[in-house]
Amino acid sequence: MRLALVSGSSNSALASRVACEIGIDLEECAVERFPDGEIGVSMGPVRGADVYLVQTSGIPIHDNLVELLMLADAARRAGAARVTGVIPYLAYARQDRREAEGASLGARVIADALSASLDRVITVDLHASAVEGFFSCPVEHLSAIPLLAERVRPLLRDHIVVAPDLGAVKRAQRYASLLGLGMAGVRKRRLSGRQVEALGVDGDVRGHDVLIVDDMISTGATIVVAANALRAAGAGGAIAVATHGLLVAGAAERLDALALDAVMISDSVVAPTASRPRITVVGLAALLGDVITRVHRDAPLAELVGDR
Ligand code: R5P
Repeated sequence: MRLALVSGSSNSALASRVACEIGIDLEECAVERFPDGEIGVSMGPVRGADVYLVQTSGIPIHDNLVELLMLADAARRAGAARVTGVIPYLAYARQDRREAEGASLGARVIADALSASLDRVITVDLHASAVEGFFSCPVEHLSAIPLLAERVRPLLRDHIVVAPDLGAVKRAQRYASLLGLGMAGVRKRRLSGRQVEALGVDGDVRGHDVLIVDDMISTGATIVVAANALRAAGAGGAIAVATHGLLVAGAAERLDALALDAVMISDSVVAPTASRPRITVVGLAALLGDVITRVHRDAPLAELVGDR
C-alpha cells in the first residue's frame, strides 16, 4: 500500500518538513474558502493509499478542525484504504471534564467527530492523557518532552523544574527525571479564560533558577502568574517550556514583558514568534515522520509513545 501524505492549510511548513523527513512528496490538495466562510477541499488521486492528513488545530481552531473533517471525507471518497489524522495539537483537549451540571464536554464532542471520520489519530502531548480514551479509533499519543528536554538542557544551571499547576505535575516529573533535577509546584486557580491566580508555591525555590514546564502556552497567563509567584518566593532566573505555543491574545508581548531567560515551544502550531529572540521553536517533523513511517509499516512505536 502506498503512503500518501497530505497537508491541510493549518501548518503547511511543518507538513513539508515531515514529507522531507519521510522522503516523499506531499499529495496535491487544494483548500477553498467560500465567501460565507465554508471550506471545500479537493485532493489528488489517493485510491488504495494509506493516507496521512497533517492538520493541526491551532488558530483558527474551528476552520482547522472542519478542514480536517473535509480532508478525511475527500480522502475516503477518493478511495483511500486507510485515513490517519496527524494532529500535532489537539484543540478542546482542555475540556476534558464538565465543571458544572449543564456544561458541554468539548473534548468528547471533538473526539466523536474525528473518530467518525478517521481510522487513526496521531497527536502530541494531549492536555490530559485521558482524552485518548474519548476516541473510538486508535490514538498514537506522542510526547515532545524528550525533544524539548534535550534542547533546554544546555541552558540549565541549578534549575528546579516547576509545575505551574496541579495538572502539570506528571509532566514536570517527566522533565525532572530526564534532566536529573528537583521539583517544585505552583498552586493555581483559574478565574476565567484569560485570568489565573497563584495560591502559593510548594517546595523551596529560594536561590534557585526555575524551569517552568507546561503542555501549552495560550494567553500566557499561567506562565506569568507562576513566574511572578516564583520570583516572590525567592527564585532567580526562569525558563518556560511548553509543547504547544498558541500564544493568543497578546501572549507573546506578555512573555516579552516578563523577561524570562528563555521560552521554548514546538512547531505543533504556527505561533507569532518572528522577531522574538527569547522564543525558541523546536521542530517535531523528525518525530512525526518517524511515527508515520512506523505506523505505515506496522512497526512498533514503543519508545516513541513511552511515558507521558
Ligand atoms: C491548563 O491546565 C493548561 O495546562 C495550561 O496551563 C493553560 O491552558 C495555559 O493557558 P494560558 O497560557 O492561557 O494560561
